[in-house]
This record gives sequence, structure tokens and C-alpha cells, in this order.
Amino acid sequence: MSEDNRIDGKAFAEKLRERVGAEVARIKADHNVTPGLAVVLVGEDPASSVYVRNKAKQTEEAGMHSIKHQLSADTPEANLLALIGELNADPAVNGILVQLPLPDQIDDQKVLAAIDVEKDVDGFHVENVGRLWTGGDALVPCTPYGCLMMLKDRIGDLSGQRAVIVGRSNIVGKPMAALLLAESCTVSICHSRTKDLEERCREADILVAAVGRAEMVRGDWVKPGATVIDVGINRIPAPEKGEGKTRLVGDVAYAEAAEVAGAITPVPGGVGPMTIACLLRNTVVAACRQNGLDDPDL
Ligand SMILES: NC(=O)c1ccc[n+]([C@@H]2O[C@H](COP(=O)([O-])OP(=O)(O)OC[C@H]3O[C@@H](n4cnc5c(N)ncnc54)[C@H](OP(=O)(O)O)[C@@H]3O)[C@@H](O)[C@H]2O)c1
Repeated sequence: MSEDNRIDGKAFAEKLRERVGAEVARIKADHNVTPGLAVVLVGEDPASSVYVRNKAKQTEEAGMHSIKHQLSADTPEANLLALIGELNADPAVNGILVQLPLPDQIDDQKVLAAIDVEKDVDGFHVENVGRLWTGGDALVPCTPYGCLMMLKDRIGDLSGQRAVIVGRSNIVGKPMAALLLAESCTVSICHSRTKDLEERCREADILVAAVGRAEMVRGDWVKPGATVIDVGINRIPAPEKGEGKTRLVGDVAYAEAAEVAGAITPVPGGVGPMTIACLLRNTVVAACRQNGLDDPDL
């Protein structure tokens, strides 16, 4: 397995968090503003609880206020909407994140629409989606933004690159396409109905896999020299580690693809760590905009 073409997302995220921390310190010193992030968790899904804990920890480490609201799984929609109304009105809160998925009695779309567009640090509000596609000042979804940062760092100017994204979700595939289009890539979005998927992937200078199927993209789907970004997080059995043990893999068969790719993100340690780092970045951007300051250079 070649290591020199591995994109180290963990190290990249660490550097971004350091830059966020420095920017927070500067804004505090120069403008007496401390960015604040409110995270709302409904229910006790174990994976979501871990994400929320990590988000709170990293928010504090960057010198920002972290506000956590944990609601019971049977919370009525109206109560959650009322809480969002309070957070919208609170000047100490610059970013609001409602951890998805939400329990069945709550309509996700209604909740996302209730968040103040300027505090929507997940970038899921339809107005932010519209701004992203029309070249406005959007808050951009964290995972694809992290992918874009790593791509620009690795490749430089992306203009003219042939980009293929496998997956068309609202949280990864579609915003990734908008971001790459804005960088003047030629973009294709593939999905479960795409014909000749392997062929499409082989055309890519930039290949982004956001599918949720363990190691679906094989080495011979990758064009030699391509940059491969693996967004997938899949837990599979790992009997070699002991009975009942599991391990994480991406949507790309890493060892095979790394033989061919010019650069590739591993799982874990690739895209994953960038997501929270970009959330912190978005919170600082939101705080600056809400206080009439220039966007930070992050
Ligand atoms: N690293 C991170 O921080 C991060 C963040 C978010 C998500 N993820 C991971 O990224 C993966 C994708 O997440 P998501 O939320 O975008 O998933 P999603 O909403 O389930 O979307 C999956 C997409 O993959 C497509 N797809 C499914 N099977 C396919 C196949 N056989 N061939 C081609 N396309 C296929 C689906 O097509 P259709 O639309 O036609 O159904 C859909 O567009 C998951 O593993 C998730 O855990 C990681």
C-alpha cells in the first residue's frame, strides 16, 4: 500500500482547528465577540451522542462558547421549534446545529427551515442551498466543504478538472457538485440508477464517493493519477480482530485504489475529521457576518 499519496485528513483538520482557534482569539481581542455554537440533540442515539460530545469538546478547545440542549426522544415538534426560536433570538448563539436524524414525530424539513439562515452552520436551510447554487454568501455543508479544502490543497486550481461524484444526497453529493462546479470543474453526479457507473468513474480526474456501501468503488474504477475522496463510513465485521469485532471502511477499496490514484483519503482519518473542523469554521464565519465583520480567512 502506497503511503505517499495518502491525504491525511486528520492532520489537515488539526491545522484548520488551529487556524480557527487563532481567528477566534483575534475576534475576541479586536471586537469582543466570542462565537457561540448551540447543538441540539433529540433522543439518545449512541452515534449521535458521540458526535455531539466531540463537537462540544472541539468547540470549547477552539475558544468558542458551546451550548448543548439534550431533549428526550418523545419531545413534540412544537417544543423543538420553540427552542429553535429562542436560539435564533439569542445574540450569544451564532450557530445552531440540530443533530439528524430526528425522531419520527418531528418533520426534519420543518425544523431545518425554522433555523435562522445566518445561524444555519450545517448549511441545510433551503435558502443556503439556493445561495450555494447561485454563487451567494452561503453557509456551506461541512462535509463537502472539507472535501473541497483538501482537494484545493492537493491539486491547486481545480478549473477544467473532470469531477465525478457518486451519491446525490442533500448533505454530501449535491452540495459537493455545487462547490466543484463553482470551481469550474466539469461535474457528473452518479447515483443508484446510473448506467455504466464504473465507466463514469474511470473518466474522473476527481472522484468523490458518498454512497454508504462498503468498498464499492474498486481499484480498476479509478483513472491512473486521479484524486479520490472517500466520504463513506461503513462498519463491517472484522473477525481477524476477534469474535464480534468490527472495523470502519469507506466506499472505496482503499488498498486497490491507492495503487492507481494520484492521491486518496483513507477511512478513518480522511474526510471524517474535517467535518467538525469545518463546523467550527462555519461558526466563526457566521459570527463575523452577524457582527458586521469581514469573513475570516479560513
Ligand atoms: N465523513 C463524514 O463526515 C460523513 C458525513 C456524511 C456522510 N458520510 C457517509 O457518507 C456516505 C454517504 O452518506 P449520505 O448521507 O450522502 O448517504 P445517502 O443519503 O444514503 O445517499 C447515498 C447515495 O448513494 C447512492 N447509491 C446507493 N447505492 C448506489 C449504488 N449501488 N451505485 C451508485 N450509487 C448508489 C444513492 O443513490 P439514489 O439517490 O439513487 O438512492 C444516494 O444518492 C455514508 O457512508 C455516510 O455515513 C460521512
